[in-house]
Amino acid sequence: MTHEDASSPAASSLARPVSGANLPDGMQRAAAFAPINIALSKYWGKRDYERNLPLAPSVSVCIAELGTLTIVAPNLDLDGNVMLINDKPADQKALVRVGRVMRSVRALAGTEVRAGVRAVNTVPTAQGLASSASAFAALARAATAAYGVGLDDGALSGIARLGSGSACRSVHGGFVLWQRGERDDGSDSLAEQIATPEDWPLRAVIVHIGEGPKKTPSGEGMRLSADTSPFFSAFIDTCFRDVPECLGAIASRDFERLGEVSEANCLAMHATMLATRPGLIYWQAATVEVMHTVRRLRAVGVAAFFTIDAGPSVVVLCEAGAVDGVCTAIGGIPGVVKLTRTRVGGGAHLVPHG
Ligand code: PMV
Repeated sequence: MTHEDASSPAASSLARPVSGANLPDGMQRAAAFAPINIALSKYWGKRDYERNLPLAPSVSVCIAELGTLTIVAPNLDLDGNVMLINDKPADQKALVRVGRVMRSVRALAGTEVRAGVRAVNTVPTAQGLASSASAFAALARAATAAYGVGLDDGALSGIARLGSGSACRSVHGGFVLWQRGERDDGSDSLAEQIATPEDWPLRAVIVHIGEGPKKTPSGEGMRLSADTSPFFSAFIDTCFRDVPECLGAIASRDFERLGEVSEANCLAMHATMLATRPGLIYWQAATVEVMHTVRRLRAVGVAAFFTIDAGPSVVVLCEAGAVDGVCTAIGGIPGVVKLTRTRVGGGAHLVPHG
């Protein structure tokens, strides 16, 4: 695959509509938005690094409003995919991951036509806020529409997974289960919705905490943990117990039980990260202070719990009546850059584009 930079004529072609007359039937420019998701029982360990197949199942919740908007424009003049992320040319690592998704879509469409891709994140990258999950879910949704490939959401999640494992969970909205699957080709490692946002309209407060030293990307971190953390296999075993526990709590809308298992699973993943060599310390001082504050609030009856991915930022899930109290208590913590009040939201969907 060849790549061109954003200043090339090919990249600038993203800005103008592709002539439908030149494209094969069924191909057109398409745009999609996908939300970030936050895992309640985490994915930290792969059984296949190429296909992003997990060692354990995981459960997540989609977060409304924050995510990625992606436009895919098939273009007969390109001999390689071109990509802009937040108006900057994508780096080589991102292009390799995008290439996996695009290759699989082209294979399904039976074409060699390449595309220009433009992604805009409404969530900061590298703060542990799953911007790669929203990015690849939006790419899968937009690319399949652009190439005229009709897939159900389960199959679409398998395409998104090729870019980033957790992206499969952003295809569906609400509460989502990602099956580990058994097959080597990953065809049974798909995501499915287990409850809609309307089924359980929980709120979320995103606690943005600025980045400290450069973080280890999740793929590299998982590999290091698998190779060196003495807690790694214990964490994977824990996930096999925590996933059914999460599913039970979601089915019965038992907030206390969901909070208990989610916080425990999050801390077990971070214990595994901390015990990796060299230790993966994703937290900042503010991250720890937010955890203590949420627990203090809960002790006085506020329905809230925290969870944290591979970065310093924290997601606090809460019942509607708890949002104000959570924001007041957390807003003043030094190191907290911003709070976003949001809620459990829908999944990846096509959007009109000009
Ligand atoms: O999908 P990736 O490669 O970005 O990995 C995500 C890993 C965590 O966010 C830490 C956990 C999870 O389940 O999302």
